[in-house]
Amino acid sequence: MLTEKEKIETLTRLVIELNQVSDLDILMEHILSQARRFVNADAGSIYIAEGRMLQFTYTQNDTLQKRLAKGEKLIYSTFTLPIDEQSIAGYVAATGQPLNIPDVYEIAPTEPYNFSKEFDEASRYTTRSVLTIPLKSARGDLLGILQIINAQDEDHQVIPFSDKDEKMMLHFASIAAVALERAQMTRAIILRMIRMAELRDPKETGAHVNRVGGVAVEIYEQWALKRGLSQKEIDTNRDILRMAAMLHDVGKVAISDLILKKPGRFNNDEFEIMKQHTILGAQLFRGRQSDFDDAASQVAFTHHERWDGKGYPGYVDIQSGSPLPDHIAPDGSPLGKKGEEIPIFGRIVALADVYDALSSARIYKEAWEQSEVLDTIEKEAGYHFDPDLVEIFFSSIDVIRSIQQRYSESE
Ligand code: C2E
Ligand code: SIN
Ligand code: SIN
Ligand code: SIN
Ligand code: FE
Ligand code: FE
Repeated sequence: MLTEKEKIETLTRLVIELNQVSDLDILMEHILSQARRFVNADAGSIYIAEGRMLQFTYTQNDTLQKRLAKGEKLIYSTFTLPIDEQSIAGYVAATGQPLNIPDVYEIAPTEPYNFSKEFDEASRYTTRSVLTIPLKSARGDLLGILQIINAQDEDHQVIPFSDKDEKMMLHFASIAAVALERAQMTRAIILRMIRMAELRDPKETGAHVNRVGGVAVEIYEQWALKRGLSQKEIDTNRDILRMAAMLHDVGKVAISDLILKKPGRFNNDEFEIMKQHTILGAQLFRGRQSDFDDAASQVAFTHHERWDGKGYPGYVDIQSGSPLPDHIAPDGSPLGKKGEEIPIFGRIVALADVYDALSSARIYKEAWEQSEVLDTIEKEAGYHFDPDLVEIFFSSIDVIRSIQQRYSESE
């Protein structure tokens, strides 16, 4: 448990740390882990406000996590609640006031809100003390709800949250809200960039890029853990990779609608033009002003390379698109990058992109059955895809499925 002095120090460091995270999902993880650490809470959730509803977006639970095998992730389903006085989170959202409940099974019948027992019943978990805090923007708009559950003493006995905890959390929430609002804006800008470009059916695109980003990050994390990278390095890379992966096809903005939206199969010439989207995307981030620009450029450039060297665009100059000397095949075309010549982010996004493309309907194809998709991915290990990544993919398949489902509706 943190001492008071450590808490003050941590809070100061947190301002800096939270402001370094740009991606929304990863930020929510940080906010929740830190909030829980402050008040030694077993579990917690974040709800994001969407109009008159609250979307249950992210959750952590140490007790349930301990029931899983090491490295396995807690899988949860998202749901929405109306912003009204009937639920605890809804009440806090509606009134804008925090709520500190010592025991949710002993809420006075005179209170307007109820604790809903479904989650406890389904997960065989017992919620007791619950501290619920609104996350408000600098302008006072409601961004969401931070809920922390089951404060614990040194012996892991569940105790109520103290007044001190509540004050600390209010302060914490105001810091977190600033970072959250900024990350929401970054996410919105990325989605708008993609939508503006009308890459495809506007209903499909937001969900597609979110899924590719989510799946890519999941694969990266397992890959990096296997290699013993530090958690700090992993966190930084996850943040960068998610946004870069979301922008993998941004070069399609420069491809004519006649080709992009062709309802049928491409002929050779059309496909040659489409292949340019890799180079065009890489050029957009050519400035190389930050690690993010670097990663985004690399992902756009290499996400259609293949492990066996038969992908595209291969060894070409990003500016001119012409083959690099020493990397030219006898027929004059550029040689493909192969194996670990392809940067890890490109190898990961290749897998995440094809998985999503095969699983979804496109203007030129129907969605495939999940079993066919998985068969193809398995068969392509060592051909299209890095075999190590395919192995990780299958060992994380439940988490990957839950990411697919989370972003199934149009965004
Ligand atoms: P995308 O739709 O996001 O597909 C990404 C990758 O998934 C494809 O890269 C390919 O490796 C794989 N993929 C998707 N659908 C199928 C499929 O039905 N069969 C097989 N074998 N693989 C599939 P690829 O081929 O380099 O294509 C890049 C992008 O070009 C695609 O992105 C899509 O936007 C477009 N595209 C490719 N072929 C066609 C086509 O015949 N018609 C149209 N309208 N667009 C196409
Ligand atoms: C995500 O943040 O969407 C992917 C990781 C997870 O599902 O926990
Ligand atoms: C990594 O290996 O951790 C990322 C390297 C890259 O940007 O490809
Ligand atoms: C690929 O991974 O090469 C696409 C799927 C297929 O070739 O059937
Ligand atoms: Fe692509
Ligand atoms: Fe794609």
